[in-house]
Amino acid sequence: MAAIDYQERIPNNVDLNTDRRLQRALEHWQPKFLNWWQDLGPEGFMGHDVYLRTAVSVDAKGWAHFGHVKMPEYRWGIFLADRDMDRTVGFGDEFGKPVWQEVPGEHRAVLRNLITTQGDTEPASVEQQRMLGQTCPSLYDLRNLFQVNVEEGRHLWAMVYLLHAYFGRDGREEAEELLMRHSGDVDNPRILSTFNEPIDDWLSFFMFTYFTDRDGKFQLKCLAESSFDPLARTCQFMLTEEAHHMFVGETGIGRIIKRALEVMKETGSDDPEVIRKAGAIDLHLLQRYVNFWFSSCLDLFGSEKSSNAASYFASGVKGRPDEARFEDHICRDSNFDLEVPDEKGKPISESIPMRNAMNEVVRQAYIKDCMVGLTRWNRLIKKAGFDFEITLPSQRFRRSIGPWANMSMDPAGKQISAEEYERRKTEFLPSEADRAYVKSLMKPVMEPGKVASWIAPPDRGINNQSIEYEYVRVH
Ligand SMILES: [Fe+2]
Ligand SMILES: [Fe+2]
Repeated sequence: MAAIDYQERIPNNVDLNTDRRLQRALEHWQPKFLNWWQDLGPEGFMGHDVYLRTAVSVDAKGWAHFGHVKMPEYRWGIFLADRDMDRTVGFGDEFGKPVWQEVPGEHRAVLRNLITTQGDTEPASVEQQRMLGQTCPSLYDLRNLFQVNVEEGRHLWAMVYLLHAYFGRDGREEAEELLMRHSGDVDNPRILSTFNEPIDDWLSFFMFTYFTDRDGKFQLKCLAESSFDPLARTCQFMLTEEAHHMFVGETGIGRIIKRALEVMKETGSDDPEVIRKAGAIDLHLLQRYVNFWFSSCLDLFGSEKSSNAASYFASGVKGRPDEARFEDHICRDSNFDLEVPDEKGKPISESIPMRNAMNEVVRQAYIKDCMVGLTRWNRLIKKAGFDFEITLPSQRFRRSIGPWANMSMDPAGKQISAEEYERRKTEFLPSEADRAYVKSLMKPVMEPGKVASWIAPPDRGINNQSIEYEYVRVH
């Protein structure tokens, strides 16, 4: 089962050739996908050889093959983790019953929506990032960008397969729509608003892969617990790819910090002006980008109290990340202490039914996971002898949904007046000047082994290749 058939037009490990109807439907969708990739995929690099990894099996070890490929010739396909014949429903009202190999009628609309929304984010991020290649800080980074992009393209395939295979005609229609909506399109935008903002500088790209892809990781972790087994197995395999995206974000930001620290040491100053004069990115600016990206990603988990989240959990459609680590998988009689504002905007605790707090449970797991990189970055700063700490803002800061939505909070989570918020906004969030400065740094560096002034070289290359390796053949 684990072996992937690359002889077929659509590489797969789901015995696609035993279902002619499905195979034909997907072969019909394939050229539309390739047209979309040509039109809205990475701009200006369609003919270049890129050192990419391609999945060759779904085993935990050794599933990747590396080699130079032109992106339009990348072998996108359908790869599901192996089926566990004894798998049972892991949570909710149906706990312990066999998982579903087909979509139960009563959950059909909900599952279709979840899969469509997940599917929509995948091509959206490719569209958001399509101009970035033009300003890459190194060939190594250029290659990593394209690796992320082709894998997001494959994640689209993963969701489209489910829509085609299990949702009949409306599934096929949803699959078509996934190629019709476009990031930032006024008439037909992507479903989630975050995915309609262009990512046109590399600091934002690293923030996106650190914070937004990590949101993706947690959504996939919840869906990997789903009682709808094909969805769970699809998401399990997607998670192995997703890990690389977060690596790109964490090491990218880490290298920016490393470069800032070098300049701080050389000049003996931590004055942003001085750091910028040397062409690096000061840590204060970086902190403001963290504030911006972290706060917008928190909203992606949905409202703190949610009856939808409760019914997803009850029905077994969507679980908690790593459900097995919890003791109670039913959560019918337990409560969650949620922080909500009192009339004065001060946090007080409110006990709500656990099932209604599932969005918050996932958000808390996400926040904890976000801390891992911060701890590493702060260790770098401390080791270099500087007194500065990158922090995550309070989860009350700059929220657009939930009980803390639209309140004037400083990054520490203290309520301030709307006037004060406006006055101090450039202290909290990237200012026009910050963005202009970052933009001014975005000049392509395409000599093998060379790196832009604002970022340190990586510690090591990809797949044991040297840093000087020609990851993208541009010459
Ligand atoms: Fe993805
Ligand atoms: Fe991703």
